[in-house]
Amino acid sequence: MSRVRATARSNIALSKYWGKSSHAGNVPAVPSLSVTLSSLVTTTDVEFASGARGDALTLDGVRVEGAGFEKAQRLFDEVRAHIGREGRFVASSHNDFPTASGLASSASGFAALALGAVRAAEAPLDDASVSRLARRASGSAARSVFGGFVELLGGEDEHDPAATQVRGPEHMPLRVLVAVTTELAKDTASTKGMELTAAKSPFYGAWLDVAPRIHRELRRAVERADLEATCELAERSALAMHASAMAAGIVYVSGATLAALREVHAMRREGLPAWATIDAGPHLKVLTSADALAVVTARVAAVPGVLRVITNAPGEGATWERVVE
Ligand code: DP6
Repeated sequence: MSRVRATARSNIALSKYWGKSSHAGNVPAVPSLSVTLSSLVTTTDVEFASGARGDALTLDGVRVEGAGFEKAQRLFDEVRAHIGREGRFVASSHNDFPTASGLASSASGFAALALGAVRAAEAPLDDASVSRLARRASGSAARSVFGGFVELLGGEDEHDPAATQVRGPEHMPLRVLVAVTTELAKDTASTKGMELTAAKSPFYGAWLDVAPRIHRELRRAVERADLEATCELAERSALAMHASAMAAGIVYVSGATLAALREVHAMRREGLPAWATIDAGPHLKVLTSADALAVVTARVAAVPGVLRVITNAPGEGATWERVVE
């Protein structure tokens, strides 16, 4: 029996992935670029035991069932297919942030699970292959395999993309403040939200048109370490994504999200470097520079409805070690 401990950090997309291409294997409809977050970490222990089938996965001590477990099971099946050997995976995952808070993006979870399963089964796969495995479970997870600024291509020309690192964590003094607006978020899951947007939004076509253009500009801004242009484009990407989802009746923002967004805009009018991005939930993520961190954090924390603020710098990619008992 071989046990492996894998860690992965969550990430926040600066240019957003929203929508799926027509290809099998969860290929995004648009390219995205994220920053891996230093402070939201998932640690996953994975054992690959010989013998009868019967995989198991727990998250913070609770058995994972339903759609989440099915995705994990498919990931395990792929690893078994690679090594051409039977065996059962037993995985236990722990988030260093409250799992029910809606912060538990599947990104760090499936990145850690993919890396842990591959290394526990001693499958001869590199990080790009781990990223592809993670992507099939959850698109954003492909990016959490790598640290710093990470790109995942998408669109009909892409058939099986892996994420790649664009620049390392030290490249830009970007800081990401997660303004937590509820401790128990239950939102429309991203997969479902994307399906509904594609099926019902009159603006989905506009999103597919604009997203790659914002992405290209943002990638160039990241390459030249232009923090202001990067963050401005990130806010534009997030608002375009939410506008298209909202037109399909999917509203992720709450009153507190909008209050925090207004405060970000007020800070910008005052000349402070603050921009916002929002994922498939009500927490607002504020993008700022290391220099302005203290003042921007204080302003965001004071917004009514913001419960607490989690500070992040660009973080490292996924890591693993063998656990010796
Ligand atoms: C808004 O990666 O959670 O966070 O591939 O269906 O699991 P699935 O979706 P997921 O979607 C992420 C959506 C987003 C934007 C992003 O992270 O790029």
